[in-house]
Amino acid sequence: MNTPICDFLDKYALSGAERLHMPGHKGVPGALCGAERFDITEIPGADSLYEACGIIAESEKNASSLFGTEATFYSTEGSSHCIRAMLYTALLYSRGNARENAILAVRNAHRTFVTAAALLGLDTEWVYPRDTMLSGTAGAEEIKNALEGRRFAAVYITSPDYLGGRCDIAAISAVCRENGALLLCDNAHGAYLKFLPRDLHPVALGADICCDSAHKTLPVLTGGAYLHFAHGARALAAHARNALSLFGSTSPSYLILRSLDSANALLAEGFKAELARFVPLVDAAKETIASAGYALYGDEPLKITVMPKARGYTGKELARECENRGIVCDFADPDHAVFMLSPANGELAPQKLCEALVSLPRRAEIKKRPPVVTPKKQALPAREALLAPCETVPSREALGRVCASPLVGCPPAIPVVTCGELTDENALELFDYYGIGNCRVVLKNE
Ligand SMILES: Cc1ncc(COP(=O)(O)O)c(C=O)c1O
Repeated sequence: MNTPICDFLDKYALSGAERLHMPGHKGVPGALCGAERFDITEIPGADSLYEACGIIAESEKNASSLFGTEATFYSTEGSSHCIRAMLYTALLYSRGNARENAILAVRNAHRTFVTAAALLGLDTEWVYPRDTMLSGTAGAEEIKNALEGRRFAAVYITSPDYLGGRCDIAAISAVCRENGALLLCDNAHGAYLKFLPRDLHPVALGADICCDSAHKTLPVLTGGAYLHFAHGARALAAHARNALSLFGSTSPSYLILRSLDSANALLAEGFKAELARFVPLVDAAKETIASAGYALYGDEPLKITVMPKARGYTGKELARECENRGIVCDFADPDHAVFMLSPANGELAPQKLCEALVSLPRRAEIKKRPPVVTPKKQALPAREALLAPCETVPSREALGRVCASPLVGCPPAIPVVTCGELTDENALELFDYYGIGNCRVVLKNE
């Protein structure tokens, strides 16, 4: 597969041109990070991300053919950027098809979904996760029931979620098609699913639009992401560049574009075979870890989510023990430690993780469980709350106050209360459990 962005940048770096253009480092190597030569702006021949018709468009077409989509668009600002564009597109869909100005979403959504929907004035109705607030493998049946008699613009799911839980996308897609609602999928954690021996990518399983953080699971620089449109969503794909330009910087990073471009060549060549060899090593590691007395969560092939309380550790304690043994996880909370693996770690990495976990002395089981999440009351429309005068207060003082915008740590950035919701006793319990110290709330009318 050709790599037109890489080729252009290589040629320009060697050209010796006097760079009388941005950026200010002028491509002088070494001053910052060594990659300055390739960090350019939209000079002639370099194309322009939101009006792409040259090397960027060609590279995006390559990505589209790899992912089997109608169209794939690059972002250099992560899935967060793509989620905003995806919701704007859903808004256009609702207006063009006389649907409700509302989205049905599973509650374990990333905070970008919450704030973007609020800013766009899209109402959200929630389906609550079956498990914890972090993982929401809501089933097709629950979504079907929630769609009954309604004309939501879209259904929004996060699959895989932060813990590696996955939805039955094919079944949810069938329910959405029957109803006429779009199926939008936050696939930030699952770009690689396309390249497994069995294709598990959301677009292949029936999602209409989805975002992938290429940088989370593929060899791509941080910020690199895809916004994919399935074949059935051709009319909406026509709005994608405009949608992305509404929310993105006018200076997208060519370093990130280069990495997305070079990833195409890797994905077209050895990556699939590497994954096919690597996933069984992760499977074997999961078996070893489970037989050492750890509970595991989720079924994402490259993620190992360990629930260590039965073995006497909180997730955070386990993360610290691993750090002491030279292993850094992606996320830990009281119940989980999330390890993200990839062929780029090398084939010894799963074994190294096993050895670290198995070597930890068993301790008395920790019995404390996370609070069950109860539905929250919407006291103000989300947009009104987000735009209202607000203040930040210690979470324990937020009882009875209306959330203006969610303050949550990243990762996993899943809000306890969302814009316009009333902070209730259950929210205080969750803040306390997850260590969320402050809340941004709407000012009281004195
Ligand atoms: C489920 C989920 N969606 C979206 C995002 C945002 O992705 P990005 O960091 O690429 O903007 C994240 C980030 O961690 C995430 O976990």
